[in-house]
Amino acid sequence: MDLHAFFQTHRLLLAPMAGVSDEAFRALCREQGADLTYTEMVSAKGLSYANEKTRHLLRLAPGEDRVAVQLFGHEPDTMAAQAAWIEREMGASLAYLDVNMGCPARKIVSKGDGSALMKDPALAASIVRAVARAVDCPVTVKFRRGWSEGVETAPEFARRMEDAGAMAVAVHGRYAEQLYRGSAEWDAVARVKEAVAVPVIGNGDVKRGADAAALVARTGCDAVMIARGAEGNPWLFAQAKAALAGEPEPDAPGVEERIALARRHARLLGAREGKNIVRMRKHAAWYLSGLPGAAAARGKINGCVSVEDFDEVFDELLACAREHAAAHE
Ligand SMILES: Cc1cc2nc3c(=O)[nH]c(=O)nc-3n(C[C@H](O)[C@H](O)[C@H](O)COP(=O)(O)O)c2cc1C
Repeated sequence: MDLHAFFQTHRLLLAPMAGVSDEAFRALCREQGADLTYTEMVSAKGLSYANEKTRHLLRLAPGEDRVAVQLFGHEPDTMAAQAAWIEREMGASLAYLDVNMGCPARKIVSKGDGSALMKDPALAASIVRAVARAVDCPVTVKFRRGWSEGVETAPEFARRMEDAGAMAVAVHGRYAEQLYRGSAEWDAVARVKEAVAVPVIGNGDVKRGADAAALVARTGCDAVMIARGAEGNPWLFAQAKAALAGEPEPDAPGVEERIALARRHARLLGAREGKNIVRMRKHAAWYLSGLPGAAAARGKINGCVSVEDFDEVFDELLACAREHAAAHE
């Protein structure tokens, strides 16, 4: 399947984010205008052991029709077998399978996974070939500007992935060694775009709507992928959508809207996780950051476990925000 047509109508993507892009967050980003969302990265090895926690990462939100699944690992056979299993399980709700070759976290690269594969393009290509042979859906690869700081290998690496059967590539314009330091070099995305014929997804430092339009204008990329900018801020997708269409961006949400969405997020997580939604702590801190009373609420957030605990903090902050607004009227 050619992904060129797909990305003409799916231009804004929520990036894979371990610990963040679960079905609750994905659902909220879709509501705000993300055209496609990625799962958290899923371990091929974990799946091969039928690990329940790993399988949990593949669950969809009610009504979630489509998702891209990101796999990580470094053994072509394991990756291929698990890709085939995912495709059988997910059927039409699987838009495509992405292979993680960008994650720079030590516990990932020390096993030869994630961005470590950029140091071994031959192995990376065998993984793509094996996975592409094993599934009918498109296979894509997400990687970085290169491994070593100052040595840009992304254009050549992209060509090798394309030759191996990748139907699109996503590029984050930082080196693996850089982790998240400095800024993403969008020109690296442009150079990848020149190097390959398959669609290119640009990624890195899209923090406001206008950045999405600027990234496309600067690089010619076919789609824009957003990660950290959407944390506590799914509205970024609505702003980016407007900016890409050349329309005025909707205003940033006010306090009431922020808190209302944070509450819904907690409920969606509760429906998924049950009573313990500690993973909401980081989201709550992101939603509330900058609001009156947020600094004082941080400690309380870190003690929250259930939907009710979070509601209590949200109630207090709402009261605080209303008082603040009344005092400034
Ligand atoms: C908390 C967090 C988790 C991430 N997890 C993944 C992941 O599972 N797979 C992946 O390919 N990239 C992962 N990334 C990288 C992002 O997908 C993205 O490439 C990077 O953050 C740059 O985009 P941004 O500037 O919009 O944040 C993660 C990033 C963050 C901040």
